[in-house]
Amino acid sequence: MRTDTPQTVRLEEYRPSDHLIDRVELDVRLDDRETRVSAVLALRPNPAGEAGAALRLDGDEIDLVALELDGAVLAPDDVTASPSGLVLHAPPSRPFVLRIETRLDPSANTKLMGLYRSGGVYCTQCEADGFRRITYFLDRPDVLSVYTTRIEADRDEAPVLLGNGNPVEAGPVPGTNRHFAVWHDPHPKPAYLFALVGGRLGRVSAPFTTMEGRTVEVAVHVEPGREARAGYALDATLRAMAWDERAFGRAYDLDVFNVVAVSDFNMGAMENKGLNIFNDKYVLASAETATDADYANIEAIIAHEYFHNWSGNRVTCRDWFQLCLKEGLTVFRDQEFSSDMRSRAVHRIAEVRTLRARQFPEDAGPLSHPVRPRQYAEINNFYTATVYEKGAEIVRMLRTLLGADTFAAGMDRYFAENDGRAATVEDFLAAFAQASGRDLAGFAQWYEHPGTPRLSVEGRYDAQARTYALTFRQSLPGAPALMIPIALGLVGPQGALDGATCDRVRDGIFVLEMASDTITFENVEAPPVPSLLRGFSAPVRLETALGDVDRLTLLAHDPDPFNRWQAAQGLALRLMTGAAEPGTREAYGRALAGFLDTEALADPAFAALILALPGEGDVANEIGEGVDPDRIHAAREDLRRHLGAALGVRLSALRAALAEPPGAGFSPDAASAGRRALRNAALDLLAAADPETGAAEAAAQIESASTMTDRLAALAVLSLIPGAAREQALDAFGARYADEPLVLDKWFALQAAIPEAGTLARIAALRTHPAFSMTNPNRVRALIGSFPLSNPTQFARPDGAGFALVADAVLALDPINPQIAAKLLTSFGSWRLLEPGRGRLAREALERIRATPTLSRDVADIAARSVA
Ligand code: PHE
Ligand code: ZN
Repeated sequence: MRTDTPQTVRLEEYRPSDHLIDRVELDVRLDDRETRVSAVLALRPNPAGEAGAALRLDGDEIDLVALELDGAVLAPDDVTASPSGLVLHAPPSRPFVLRIETRLDPSANTKLMGLYRSGGVYCTQCEADGFRRITYFLDRPDVLSVYTTRIEADRDEAPVLLGNGNPVEAGPVPGTNRHFAVWHDPHPKPAYLFALVGGRLGRVSAPFTTMEGRTVEVAVHVEPGREARAGYALDATLRAMAWDERAFGRAYDLDVFNVVAVSDFNMGAMENKGLNIFNDKYVLASAETATDADYANIEAIIAHEYFHNWSGNRVTCRDWFQLCLKEGLTVFRDQEFSSDMRSRAVHRIAEVRTLRARQFPEDAGPLSHPVRPRQYAEINNFYTATVYEKGAEIVRMLRTLLGADTFAAGMDRYFAENDGRAATVEDFLAAFAQASGRDLAGFAQWYEHPGTPRLSVEGRYDAQARTYALTFRQSLPGAPALMIPIALGLVGPQGALDGATCDRVRDGIFVLEMASDTITFENVEAPPVPSLLRGFSAPVRLETALGDVDRLTLLAHDPDPFNRWQAAQGLALRLMTGAAEPGTREAYGRALAGFLDTEALADPAFAALILALPGEGDVANEIGEGVDPDRIHAAREDLRRHLGAALGVRLSALRAALAEPPGAGFSPDAASAGRRALRNAALDLLAAADPETGAAEAAAQIESASTMTDRLAALAVLSLIPGAAREQALDAFGARYADEPLVLDKWFALQAAIPEAGTLARIAALRTHPAFSMTNPNRVRALIGSFPLSNPTQFARPDGAGFALVADAVLALDPINPQIAAKLLTSFGSWRLLEPGRGRLAREALERIRATPTLSRDVADIAARSVA
């Protein structure tokens, strides 16, 4: 039984459950303050467990009302029950049935785990361990059961009742104003995939016919009146279903697929079997209210949750240490989907930007952990960039190593051999080892070691022999040599050097397996520039001696678009950190000018990325120690001004050329979004060089904009230019969208990001805004969570007031919603990079939190690890 003292759970201590639950029959009577749950559990001893062991069911803040074993009431001595668990000291050694009745208060549930109410809608969230807040259970992912759920509620309060699986029966409860629905899910599943919903909901729907000929009713449910904003999510669902058949051979397996949007949700969304529940931010979209980035996120997250139906639900995880088995794999799958729906190169750059901005800092700081952690105090703190994003990179490397066809054969094998099972990383790798006939033991090390490997590369040209040798060295403290797939090629002043060959390079890939190795290219006419780690073929930090001229060559001539972008980023980083050679700033400006002249209109989305400078956080990570955020900010502003001035004429011309033709209808497709992105990137640089003209142009665009993308981008530009125009525009925007919480979130976040001393007061004032609420995670993330991430100079103010603001918010949130509080606290994760003065203040803020009595396990865990 779980106790209140923090306990460390260890992978090496995994033991199968002593009991199994084959069938679950739930009867849930929804009520605002007193919901009753009757659970009939068909139990039996697990042959793989310990014979005669006590039955220990998990519980969390629930009240036991009644308990029966095979229809009989238990003697008081046979059972120990508390809100956090129920123990049957001597359960039968044969199959038996427990009936458990519990009582809970959905309205008091601000943790948003278990059964809660969001905007009047009853909903559940059970991953990772929320089901134990509904009834006593073996709440672990390796206990799989077939569920039948009867949901009963008031007809007016909850006309729509949804559960997992297929609907089997519905009707009125005679003599009352209540009604019920019965749902049956034939697929055995762990409790974390259980869900139910009851409420007033509008819906949009469409039929989908699977490749196996099953007709599926697909529906997206939203707040009544918002149906028109659910169309894109529905369309994305249908495209995801078709894509998973085409790309992975995976068909849907129920008669209905329901998506429900709720306003209060701790994460992005949840893959409950047949009933995905979403943060409404990732469902609702219209041109007026959602940006192109929102549309892209909706498409990706809708797909992500749908893809879990196979990678997560049909094949689930044996224990929570295997979380990457479903999350890393499913992120990889949603990335591939988005790449197919959009531009592959552009999407790859976006993926790597996220990885570097979120996962690399995590892996370089005190919260670093292996993709498969070996221990945890609180599992909810392990839904991290490392598990998700680095986990996806590992799957991507596997495909790079094996080739697309063998990878596909391995995936088929994995699904076939583990269908209906709770699997491990070992099961996953075994499928690929068998499909390829290769030994993947070395590759498995990627799951085991924290930290980002360094890969240093040195090139040597031999003019006489016309050879070019590349020496690779990898290092990751505490880890053996990893298997690193390195996509590469040689580039000359005219483009790819196709004549050069190397027998260690196959299909453009060299696999480094040793700590160091040297490969040699033949037939190299002239000193080449190596293009390394094309497409970011491995999640490593690449260290080369490439000079600025080499990078300019790659920017101009590399056939790999990712590395062209990387070359531009590298040049900008060198300029901002003072590492660039004299004259590079001007040469960089000329290179971008040439690029804009010849290529920008052909691929505006890519051009927008080429123009986007690395963020202040990227620069801090590059510097790596003794960071002064004010200096980074100044260096970045300086480069923005220079580029804005150097490219000004071209940027204005591009804005004109890319202007939306009057009366053109809105489309969220990638090409249209790319044009908007470039147009707005141009405005941003223009305003940096000439704030007065920029402010006027931004103000005009705010007025004339026909999309939220254009309106918000212009407001963001204006928000960086102090003055009355900015304040007026902010006020007008706030008034215009006063009834649109998701739009106000953008407005909150934008103001929290203003790099000025007055921002702390601004945030304090906005906390009293009528739309703000500490119980709504989206609001908290928008106004407070975004602050440390997007405003490094004010978060790390030299007076410590930025740290104090976040620390105070963590302490205020902890009693309300520990998961959100803990997540907010992770923003201190890079404090060790800071110069000593700021570093000390950050540490003091962390210590103040640690010293607070009655912290949740979530916050206590992050605080302790952050200072360790
Ligand atoms: N499993 C969800 C996903 O798709 C994330 C999640 C975790 C949601 C825990 C809620 C609670 O990634
Ligand atoms: Zn997921």
